[in-house]
Amino acid sequence: MPQLLITGGAGFIGSHSCLSFLEAGHNLVILDNYSNGSKEALKRVAQLVGLHDSKRLRLIRGDIRNKNDLDKAFTASDQPIEAVIHFAGLKAVSESFLDPLKYWDVNLSGSRSLLEAMLSYECKTIVFSSSATIYGCPQKIPIDETALVQPVNPYGHTKAAVERLLSDLAESQNGWRIASLRYFNPVGAHSSGVIGEDPNGLPNNLFPVVSQVAVGRIEELKVFGCDWSTPDGSAIRDFIHVVDLAEGHLAALEVLLREPPQMLTLNLGTGRGHSVLEVLNAFQKVSKRNIPYLIERRRPGDVACTVADSTMAEQRLGWKTKLNLFDMCKDAWNWQKMNPLGYQEK
Ligand code: NAD
Ligand code: UD1
Repeated sequence: MPQLLITGGAGFIGSHSCLSFLEAGHNLVILDNYSNGSKEALKRVAQLVGLHDSKRLRLIRGDIRNKNDLDKAFTASDQPIEAVIHFAGLKAVSESFLDPLKYWDVNLSGSRSLLEAMLSYECKTIVFSSSATIYGCPQKIPIDETALVQPVNPYGHTKAAVERLLSDLAESQNGWRIASLRYFNPVGAHSSGVIGEDPNGLPNNLFPVVSQVAVGRIEELKVFGCDWSTPDGSAIRDFIHVVDLAEGHLAALEVLLREPPQMLTLNLGTGRGHSVLEVLNAFQKVSKRNIPYLIERRRPGDVACTVADSTMAEQRLGWKTKLNLFDMCKDAWNWQKMNPLGYQEK
């Protein structure tokens, strides 16, 4: 089975994807600086797989911007790295407005250093974490991959720039196998409740906020805007279960390794939109907790509605999401209930 390098494997999507890749038989080297990830998450991933062979999961603490750390990661195993799954990056939209240099440094310079290391180790297969944020304010819903790339925040600009770099690379050199996966809104947790989303500090995203209100860590949910032009006035998003998303990475890697060199650019979403108030109601039902909320003004940088047209991913990858909003709420709540303080608990 191929040896993979997973950057950012200790984070939310990375840890769930590591579980899927290990279950599929891959051997992994993880490179993570733990700035927003946890070693405990990977310990739990190993437990879930029943892993006793440390050679199947090697952890390197290091930074994708640091050549020595990259060298350590590429030489950690006696097998060559066949492909890289590149999750490492910064993702908070509001922080990206406050500190754009940091975002360009980690997301773009970090990706460039990684690609340079890949070339020097003759590894030309990469799956990259892109984001629906690159579409900005979409002209048409659902959004397909031909929609204009016109980000409205620095975070989105860095993701669009990495996509540009990847496509220039694919055109300039033979042999690159690239998948850029544009995630919509990844949420939920593994159904065991053993791994899940554990943001540092106060959460910004809807699901972690709702979960933390339900468990009593936050007093109330602030609903940012009930004056959008949507049926109930709250904004609509395409929430995708993190386990479905992880399976999407596995499918993308299989296609890249099987087919001739190419660059795939694909939306990963469910194709169904749910409003903020719908999420709130579903979460209350599942958790049987009252979730107090206040309607607030719109949050700067938000858009009314994003829903994916995922037809292309379904056709190219033979992949389809299986889990719905109920599963997302149930699993997010199960994780939060079992780990009220996230990974700090143990
Ligand atoms: P996360 O913060 O949980 O995981 C990112 C991981 O990367 C963390 O473990 C962090 O410690 C690590 N990391 C950060 N900077 C690093 C560096 N310089 N060197 C090495 N490791 C570093 O985020 P996530 O939600 O799992 O997101 C994974 C990827 O998917 C990110 O690139 C993100 O931009 C992208 N994405 C996320 C979402 C989302 O809503 N969660 C949506 C679209 C795209
Ligand atoms: C944003 C980015 C996405 C990025 C993700 C992770 C856009 C379009 N999307 O997703 O690319 O990867 O952040 O940081 O830029 N909400 C509330 N109250 C809250 C929190 C959220 O009402 O306390 C609302 C928001 O206003 C929004 C919806 O819930 O309408 C979803 O918000 P969130 O979970 O933060 O994700 P996005 O902003 O869609």
